[in-house]
Amino acid sequence: MIQLTNKVAIVTGGSSGIGLATAQGIIARGGVAISADVNAPTDSNVDFVETDVTDPISLKHLVDVVTDKYSHIDILVANAGVAEKKAAVSELDEDNWTKVISIDLTGVVLTNKYVVQQMEKQPSGGSVINMSSILGIVGGPKSQAYSAAKAGVSNYTKSQAITYASKGIRLNAVAPGYVNTPLLKTLPKETTDAMISKMPIGRLGEPEEIANVIAFLASDEASFMTGAVVSVDGGYTAI
Ligand SMILES: NC(=O)c1ccc[n+]([C@@H]2O[C@H](COP(=O)([O-])OP(=O)(O)OC[C@H]3O[C@@H](n4cnc5c(N)ncnc54)[C@H](O)[C@@H]3O)[C@@H](O)[C@H]2O)c1
Repeated sequence: MIQLTNKVAIVTGGSSGIGLATAQGIIARGGVAISADVNAPTDSNVDFVETDVTDPISLKHLVDVVTDKYSHIDILVANAGVAEKKAAVSELDEDNWTKVISIDLTGVVLTNKYVVQQMEKQPSGGSVINMSSILGIVGGPKSQAYSAAKAGVSNYTKSQAITYASKGIRLNAVAPGYVNTPLLKTLPKETTDAMISKMPIGRLGEPEEIANVIAFLASDEASFMTGAVVSVDGGYTAI
């Protein structure tokens, strides 16, 4: 198993779904995981700092609390995200557009900003893994804000990976296919049935399967990896 011994990791949205599995996977590999989320995790092994990724004051507070306690931040998993109201653009809900872009795209960039400021001070640098999606790569019907946000996360990550490549800070993104989490349970059954029908592997992914890939990207084993958008999608993008 990949080891993350004594690594300190912030996982935004770490109280549910992929984020919770990621936090638990980091702890199982010898690290410390802090969920930065609007909700507390159910697992008391996961440290928690109440955080809203859209709010710079909340993010500065997060970094202060974590560095006061642990003195460094080795890993950031910028995972917090919400689903959108699916619609044709002519029926776009503008408030929903603003909300989804604000959490799924701006929230990732703002979290990167305040955590990377800390990583820049550390001789050991750090590893950032941003959460994209299959919908940031392929088109999905009636998706607008979510697809735009996730494509934005992918290309933003590539750009900043180049910027920081020589400075000991690696940035990569993961782009999961459809994963069995509470976020999917907010969608109508016909939507999730359609998702499964598009998965060559014939099933949804499990949060732990995404967490395993994130653990690898976070680890020193991946020291030559930066600027990657890794599809973790059961073959979806191979079609
Ligand atoms: N489930 C999937 O099929 C799938 C596929 C591809 C990508 N993703 C992405 O993976 C990430 C996690 O999704 P999930 O399926 O585990 O969802 P989830 O709903 O189980 O977890 C999302 C977490 O984000 C938190 N959150 C929401 N708004 C926040 C905010 N403003 N500040 C801090 N935390 C906030 C929620 O409280 C929740 O704990 C999301 O970015 C999602 O877009 C999910």
